[in-house]
Parts: sequence; C-alpha cells; structure tokens
Amino acid sequence: MPRPPDPRPIIIDTDPGTDDAIALFLAFGTPGLDVRLVSVTGGNVGLAHTLANARALVGLAGRDMPVVAGADRPLLGGFAAETRVHGRDGLGGVRLPEGPPATPGVAADAIRAVLRAAGPQGVSLVGIGPATNLALALATEPALLDHVAEIVLMAGAWADGNVTPAAEFNAWSDPEALQILLSSGRPVTLATLEVAAQAVCTPARIAALRALGNGACLGAACAIMESVPPARRLGGAGHAEYDACALAWLAAPALFTTRPVHAEMDLGPGPSRGRTVIDRWGRNGRAPNARLLETLDADGFFALLGERLATLP
Ligand code: RIB
Ligand code: CA
Repeated sequence: MPRPPDPRPIIIDTDPGTDDAIALFLAFGTPGLDVRLVSVTGGNVGLAHTLANARALVGLAGRDMPVVAGADRPLLGGFAAETRVHGRDGLGGVRLPEGPPATPGVAADAIRAVLRAAGPQGVSLVGIGPATNLALALATEPALLDHVAEIVLMAGAWADGNVTPAAEFNAWSDPEALQILLSSGRPVTLATLEVAAQAVCTPARIAALRALGNGACLGAACAIMESVPPARRLGGAGHAEYDACALAWLAAPALFTTRPVHAEMDLGPGPSRGRTVIDRWGRNGRAPNARLLETLDADGFFALLGERLATLP
C-alpha cells in the first residue's frame, strides 16, 4: 500500500467574510492540506472583525495554527468594506464562540517566518482577500520567493467586475498588491468571478449539506451561507463560494479545467482601476504568467465540500 503523500503546507490569507468561512472550513477538513498559518487582512469588513472571525472559525474547527493580524488598508489609497454582502460583523450576523487569541505580531512577518522555515518550494500561498499581506511579505524579502511553491488567489475577473463594472472586490481593494503577486515569477493560479459563478450554493444545496450531520462547523457554514441577502446572491440563486474555489484547486484539482493566461492589473486612476486584464486568447503576445481556473464540476465541488464539512467538529 503506497504511503499517502505528505500534507501540503499552505498559508491562507483571508478577510472573513462569509465565503472565506466556507473556504477555511474546507481547508481545515482536507487532510492533504497542512494549514501552517492563517493571516488576516481587512477587506469584507474591517480588520477588527475579520480577525475576530478568523479566530472564531479556527476555534470552532478545533484547530491551533497561528492567526495573525495584518494590513487594515491597501498599499495605496483608502480602505472600503463590503458589508452589503457580509453584514456589519462579516459573518452575516451568525454568532460564533470567541476563538483562541491571535498570535502577536504582524502578518507579513509571520508569512515570511513560515516561508523561511519551510525551505525551497516549501509552502503554497492562498490569498482569498485583498493581497496586501502577501505582497508585503514577498516584496520585503524577495529571496523567499524560492520558498513559494504556488500562489493561489481568489481574485479578478476576465469579464464584469462585482464591485465596479471593471473590477472584482479583492483586485479592486489592492490592485498594486495583486500586481506584485502576478509579476512575482512564481506559479499563480487564479480563481476568478467566472469560476465562482459555477459554485453557487443554492438553498437546495444548503439543505443537502445540512442533512450531512450535526457538527457545529457544518451548522455554522449553512447558517452563514443562508445569511447573504437574496439581493446580494450571485444572480439571486445562492451563496457564491468564491474563496472555496481557490482552496478546492489545492484539495481536488481534477474538479477544474484550466487555461494558461497572461494577467496584469489596470493600476490607473480611472473607472477601470483594479481590473484584471486577463488575456485568454494570447492576443497581447505576452508569455502566460498565470493559470486560470476555467470550468468547475459543481456537483463534485459540493460533494467535496459536504464530505469535508462533515468531518469537522
Ligand atoms: O469578490 C469576491 C471576493 O471578495 C471574495 O474573496 C470575498 O470574500 C470578498 O473578499
Ligand atoms: Ca475573501
């Protein structure tokens, strides 16, 4: 019987966030993923709430990895939350028990420490919020890029944005940070709005998840999904699992088809600032610098999500 591969070390940088919560639970329930650090940024809501939410989610899942606070604003410009989708507290009003205390320090330093300890190609970075922490970590110690196996991001769109007509929220929140990651030279995988639109958790799917068990994490995940106001659900159908698509790429890559693309940010001051200019057809003649997640086996995705949520406390 061949020995299963060692769990894959990852860092998750997050702004919980209703869909972040589902993504974190998916990661915590996936034996093949070794979450070494949860670093937190402001984004969906302010850092005070995203940090408390990250701590609570780690605690509810009975995990003990460090949770470290990071940026409360982008590299340039001001901070803007998205409470219309995630509620004032970031989890749609779903109350969770207080989690373990945050680990003192700053996210960018903690990210670098984990990378330094892991060695070459040692850790995959998963960004499911504004990319500020990841960009700060890599820009201030470029030698650690060799320790990054892959950068997986929920970010961007090749068509319409969701916060402006041009830009997706994470990309719009800190476009300079995202550009730093796109030009890092390390393998980048993008879960954009288009693949997330294939992962919409409808009320029927939520009911099917609820039937899988009575665990606190499963119950919290379903309550959080149901908390998103119908008017803010993608196309009105349900809770789009934006961030869980990024984690699902690492947990079950066979669920996706992919396409090599060149991606770059619009960093201008105009109406398309924060747009991810994703060249799917090689029109600009630039060598691909990212892997675009293009299609998703949605039934397989929700079967995976249910299976992994049901294993949590
Ligand atoms: O546009 C969707 C992204 O923005 C997700 O990461 C969601 O949590 C918000 O941060
Ligand atoms: Ca997020």
